[in-house]
Amino acid sequence: MPRTPRAMNPVQPATHTPKSEALAAPRDTLTITDNRTGKQYEIPITNGAIRALDLRQIKVDPREFGMMSYDPAFNNTASCISHVTYIDGDVGILRYRGYPIEELAEKSTYLETAYLLLFAELPNATQLKDWIWHITHHTFIHESIKKFLDGFHYDAHPMGMLISTIAALSTFYPDAKDIFNKDSRLKQTWRLIGKMPTLAGFAYRHSLGMPFVYPDNELSYPGNFLNMLFRTTELKYHPNPTLERALDVLFILHADHEQNCSANAMRCVGSSHVDPYSATAAATAALYGPLHGGANEEVLAMLMEIGSVQKVPDFIKRVKAGEQRLMGFGHRVYKNYDPRARLIKRIAYEVFELMGKNPLLEIALECERIALEDDYFVKRKLYPNVDFYTGLIYQSMGFPMTMFPVLFAIPRTSGWIAQWEEMLLDPEQKIARPRQIYAGQDTRSYVPIEQRA
Ligand code: CMC
Repeated sequence: MPRTPRAMNPVQPATHTPKSEALAAPRDTLTITDNRTGKQYEIPITNGAIRALDLRQIKVDPREFGMMSYDPAFNNTASCISHVTYIDGDVGILRYRGYPIEELAEKSTYLETAYLLLFAELPNATQLKDWIWHITHHTFIHESIKKFLDGFHYDAHPMGMLISTIAALSTFYPDAKDIFNKDSRLKQTWRLIGKMPTLAGFAYRHSLGMPFVYPDNELSYPGNFLNMLFRTTELKYHPNPTLERALDVLFILHADHEQNCSANAMRCVGSSHVDPYSATAAATAALYGPLHGGANEEVLAMLMEIGSVQKVPDFIKRVKAGEQRLMGFGHRVYKNYDPRARLIKRIAYEVFELMGKNPLLEIALECERIALEDDYFVKRKLYPNVDFYTGLIYQSMGFPMTMFPVLFAIPRTSGWIAQWEEMLLDPEQKIARPRQIYAGQDTRSYVPIEQRA
């Protein structure tokens, strides 16, 4: 894939197009006519995109800065060339390193999928064993972290505790600053993936005022997480295999999602060359918002507020009137059913079979039924996203609502690190620093306070 920008050639405005040229083979270029000057510019197209910097030479006056593109919220801007995750939002396709999410959800485990995201290939048996060993042997956290947690109120949101303690990890591992050292990066990767469930588990136990449960190296990654959350007086915690597998599959489905808000935060903050703990804390903060990973918590609150199937049409009316959003619906990229939502719906039924049906399910199904038929949602291509059904599963598994975004952050850590490393090693990447269109006051002189209106 060519990565070096080709020079852009301004061409003279054509007075007429000769027949032979009109029939010429199409070229991978875009011709722009600047109607202010009548000049034409031929810009190379690579991978279906033009380089924003190629616009810079378009100017009326040579002293001007040059043309920029204006794209608030990055609606149509590719910020990187990535090899990690592929999404076709129109069709509803999601692949990690080329592997369809459906196959990974059926056949893989979270730790194997994390390896795939980070190292671009599925591991062989020895590589997988080694990988799991290292993650498992980096699950403990420094005892001082417990003192930080002690400082939080009993009702502190676990995401706030998680963000703070991830950031605090950077103070325990100053070697993490050595970001261009491959071995150091790998060690921080083991630590981050290994310690996230422990931080999350400790935050949860703190909110209950219960003693912390230390990691159990004999358990699987999700099994150990359940142990750290739910173990009480038993000498050995035995996770329910159905719930353990359900959680593992949910972790696979949440592991990466290309350039979403939190991955972009990870890349953007990481582009200043800060250590990966600080960048992961920033990514986790981005995930916390209700439009991103916090949506799963909001969906449940919404379903409880609706209260009954009979009240769904009224609620949908309010959504259509713009009074509120149907949380768990809509996506910047998917304009079709989110493939993760389809898989999650299936897991929901497996969990309900074991734990009993979540009474909110009927309300969720009715919301989905109406929305999928209603013109408002159909026209805007709003479909259930990953967050629509996860809350129902988590609640049935015994997680409190505040833990829902945490359950998203734990598996997304592997995706964040894969995105961060790809950014660091990409010779085209630099510190992320967008431009602005200044629309404020022109220059003016300072007014002494006594002369101000
Ligand atoms: N309910 C009602 N209307 C909606 C919704 C919704 N959930 N989502 C989008 N719309 C409408 C929106 O009002 C707009 O209508 P109009 O064209 O008349 O102004 C149109 O659809 C386009 O919406 P947008 O806000 O421009 O779309 P976006 O790409 O900026 O936002 C989104 C994407 C996910 C933030 C948005 O769909 C949303 O707020 N959904 C609810 C929150 C949610 O479920 N978030 C989880 C996203 S998936 C997992 C993750 O990223 O963590």
